[in-house]
Amino acid sequence: MFDPDTIRADFPLLGRTVRDGKPLVYLDSGATAQKPQQVIDAELAFYVQSNAAVHRGAHQLAEEATEAYELARAAVADFVGAAEDEIVWTKNATEALNLVAHGFLNASLAAGAGADGPAADAVSAAARDRYALRPGDEIVVSEAEHHANLVPWQQLAAKTGATLRWIGLTEEGRLDPETYSVIGPRTRILAITHASNVTGAITDVAQLVRRARDVGAYVVLDACQTAAHMPVDLHALGVDFAAFSAHKMVGPTGVGALFGRRELLEDLPPFLTGGSMVEVVTMESTSFMPPPQRFEAGTQMVAQVIGFRAAVEYLGALGMDQVAAHEAEMAQLMIDGIAGVPGVRLLGPQDSADRLAVVAFEVESVHPHDVGQVLDSLGVAVRVGHHCAQPIHRRLGVHASARASAGVYTTAGDVEAFIAGLHEVRRFFGLAESAAPAARGDA
Ligand code: ALA
Repeated sequence: MFDPDTIRADFPLLGRTVRDGKPLVYLDSGATAQKPQQVIDAELAFYVQSNAAVHRGAHQLAEEATEAYELARAAVADFVGAAEDEIVWTKNATEALNLVAHGFLNASLAAGAGADGPAADAVSAAARDRYALRPGDEIVVSEAEHHANLVPWQQLAAKTGATLRWIGLTEEGRLDPETYSVIGPRTRILAITHASNVTGAITDVAQLVRRARDVGAYVVLDACQTAAHMPVDLHALGVDFAAFSAHKMVGPTGVGALFGRRELLEDLPPFLTGGSMVEVVTMESTSFMPPPQRFEAGTQMVAQVIGFRAAVEYLGALGMDQVAAHEAEMAQLMIDGIAGVPGVRLLGPQDSADRLAVVAFEVESVHPHDVGQVLDSLGVAVRVGHHCAQPIHRRLGVHASARASAGVYTTAGDVEAFIAGLHEVRRFFGLAESAAPAARGDA
C-alpha cells in the first residue's frame, strides 16, 4: 500500500527542522526532490567499496565500477520504457537537450562546409542528410517551455538560419490545439514539454507525435517534470529523443539522461569530444565510438549514475501508477485549498485532470518573493520567481509567481500547512481580517 508517512521515513532530510524549530514542509520538488536513504547509501557504497574510473582500467575495481555503471543504464532505460543502448548519461536534462541541438548544429555546419570541408570530417554523410538544417527549415516549441527546452533551439535556429515557431497556450496555460497548425511541411524538429513546470498541465504527446510524423519532423520530449511523477514509456509515446534529470527523480544531482532512438543516435554527431568516446586518434583526425559512449566524453559521473539507479528502483518499487494517483490527490488538495483563500489566483488548469501537483499562484497585492518569505518563516518551502520559464509567465499576465510542487513524500498535512501559510501571508500583509487556521509548527 502507498503510504506517504512510511515513505517519508526513507528521506532523512524531511525529519529536520528549519527557522527556529519549525517542521520542514517541503513543497519544492519541482525544482529538486529530496533523496531517500537508499540513494544516499548506493552512492556511499560505491565510494567505500568500488570507486574507479569506468571502461578503462584492467583491475577488479574498474571491472566492478564498469558493471555497476552499465547496470544502472539498463535500470534507467527499463524505467522509462527504452532500450539500454538508447540511454546516454549527461550532466542534467539541460545538457541532454543541448546535446541534441548541437548534434543538429554540427551536422548543419558540416553540410555547409561541403563534403571536403574541415567541419565535415567528424560527421557522416548520413548525419548530414538526416540532421542538417537550412534556412527555411522550422523548429517548433511551445510557449510553455522552460528555458532549457527553448534557449538551445533559439540558438540552433540563429546559427543555422532555421526559423523558430511556437505552439500557443490557452487562457489556462494548456498547449492550444488551435495553434498546432504551426507544425507544417517545413518543421524539422518539434521540441515539447511533457508537463509544464509552472502550470503542471500535462501535454497530449500522442496527438503531437502524430502531427510531427505526418510532416517527417523529429520529436524531442522534455520529460523533466513527468519522469518522477507518472508512468513514462518513451517507446509507447513514440518520441525520438527525450531528456530528464535524476535530481528531480529522488536521485543525485550531476546526472541526467538523454533518450534517443537507437537508429537516430547511430548517426547523431557528437556534442562534447575528448577521451572515453574515441576509437582511433591520430594527430590529424579521430574516429568515434558507437553510441551511447560516443556522447559520454571524459571521466564519467559514476557515483551519481549508481545513485540514479537506486532512485528509479525506489520509485519503481512504489509503483508509478500509485505515485501518480497520490500526487493527483495532492494536486486536488492544493487546488481546493487555494480556492478557499481569498485573493489567491491559481495559474493554470483549475482542476486536477491531466495535471501534476505543480501549483503556481499569485497572491493579490503581494510580491511572490514576499509570499515565499512568509511561507519560509513558517517552515514551508516553495519556489518563487519565474521558475526558468519567463514566456509562460508573460502569457499568463504575470512577471513571476510562487509555486508549490509535491513529491512522493508529500502528505495532506503538508498541504494543510501550506494553505494555512497562505492565510498567514494575507494576514501579515493586512489583507485578511478573519482568523486563519494555525500553520503546522506555528507556536
Ligand atoms: N528546475 C526548474 C524548476 O524548478 C526548471 O522547475
